[in-house]
Amino acid sequence: MAMTREDNDLLTRVENGAPMGEMIRQHYWIPAIPSSKLDAGGRPFRVRLLGVDYVAFRAPDGAVGVLDESCPHRRASLALARNEPGGLRCIYHGWKLDVKGEVIEAPNHAGDQQQFCKHVRVNRYQAVDRGGIVWVWLGKGDKAPKFPELPFVDLPESQRSVTSVEVPTNWVQGVEASMDSSHVGVLHESTTQITAGGGNQRLLMTKALAPKLEFEDQPYGYRYAAIRNMPGEQIYARVNNFVMPWYGVICPPDAHGPTTVFFSTPVDDVTHRAWFVHFNPHRALGMTVMSASPDVWSFPPLPPGTPADNWGQNRELMRRGHQTGFPQHLGTEDFAMFLSQGPIYDRSLEQLCSADGAVLRVRSLLLKAVREHQAGKVPYLADNDALDYAKVRSVGGVLPVGTDWRSLTEAA
Ligand code: FES
Ligand SMILES: [Fe+2]
Repeated sequence: MAMTREDNDLLTRVENGAPMGEMIRQHYWIPAIPSSKLDAGGRPFRVRLLGVDYVAFRAPDGAVGVLDESCPHRRASLALARNEPGGLRCIYHGWKLDVKGEVIEAPNHAGDQQQFCKHVRVNRYQAVDRGGIVWVWLGKGDKAPKFPELPFVDLPESQRSVTSVEVPTNWVQGVEASMDSSHVGVLHESTTQITAGGGNQRLLMTKALAPKLEFEDQPYGYRYAAIRNMPGEQIYARVNNFVMPWYGVICPPDAHGPTTVFFSTPVDDVTHRAWFVHFNPHRALGMTVMSASPDVWSFPPLPPGTPADNWGQNRELMRRGHQTGFPQHLGTEDFAMFLSQGPIYDRSLEQLCSADGAVLRVRSLLLKAVREHQAGKVPYLADNDALDYAKVRSVGGVLPVGTDWRSLTEAA
C-alpha cells in the first residue's frame, strides 16, 4: 500500500520542531563536518543541521566545538569570530565562548564579569572528533546517546577517506538509495565498469539477476542478504546493514577490498549532505578519487546542469555506450536521480515492486522511531542498552546452494 501524504511528511520533514527532527536531535550523534576541514586555530565553518545554523571550529589546542551560529549577545555570526586560545571571540563586542558554548568573557560589561557570564543563557552541545568526522549531539540533558562505533571509526587515517557534498533534496531520498541494491547494476553499470577496469563481474551480475532478499532485525536497525543464484549450484550473497537513522554499511565488492558507508544527513527539509566514507579494514587505501578530491566538503560532484538541460546529462556519451550520461562519479548518478525525484518526493504516488523491501524497511523503522518519540518514549532502536554497533559487519561471497548466508558473517 502506498504511503499516505501525512506519513510522507512525518518521515521526511525535520525543520521547525517537526517530530523527526526532534527525535534525531535527541537520540543520535550527527556528523557535522569532515575533521580535515577544521584547522587548529583556523576559521570556523557554518554548518546547517535540521534547519538550524551552527558553527564548527577547532580551538588552537585541537579541541573541537559546535556552537549556535548567533552570538548570545546581539546575534552577530560566530562564523566571523576570531579563533583564540580558549575559544571563539565574537568580533562585534568581544564576547568569548569556549568549545562547550559557555560564555567566558564579556569585556563590554561593567561589573563582575564572571558573575555576569554565568547567567548568560547558552545552548551547550557535545562535539567529538572521531573517524575523520566532527560529530555533534544536539539533544537536551547530559546523557549523550551511545556513539555509533561503525567499522571505519577506529581505523588509522591511512585506511579511510571521508568526503561529503550538499545536495538540494530531502535526506530520505539519499538514505533510501543507500539500501536500494537493485539500482546498483543499472544506474551504476558504467561507473562500476570504469572503476573496476573492465568490470567487477560479480557486481555487474547484480544487474542481470533479481535477488531474493532476506531480512534480519538488529538492535541498531536491520541487515539483509541479497541472494542470487549462480551457475554451478552456487549462490552469491551480499549482506548490507542499515544503521539508524541514516547509515548504509555496504558489503565490499571484493573480500579484503575497500568498501563504503553511505549516509545522508538532513541540512533542512529540502537539502541534505551526502557522505561517503570509503575505507579498507585490512590495509591502507592509497590514493583514490575520494582522497584526491580538491575539496572533501564538496565531493562527489553534483550533476553539472539544471532541470532545463536535464541536469547536464551527456547524450553523446550515452550514444557511445555510457549507461547514464553522468560520467563524473557514481555519486553524481545518484544525485541526478534524487534531483529528478524533486525536493521532497510524494511517496503516495509511487508503485513499488519486490525489490523495494529494503527501502520500505528503512521507512518503517524511521516512522516507528518517530512515533515512539511522539509518545514520549525512547525509540526502541535508540535504546542504549540494546545498541551494539560492533556487530555491524557487511560481507559477501559465493556459497554452495543451500548454505545459510549467515555463515558468511561468521566466517568474516
Ligand atoms: S554580538 Fe557578539 S559580542 Fe556583541
Ligand atoms: Fe547509487
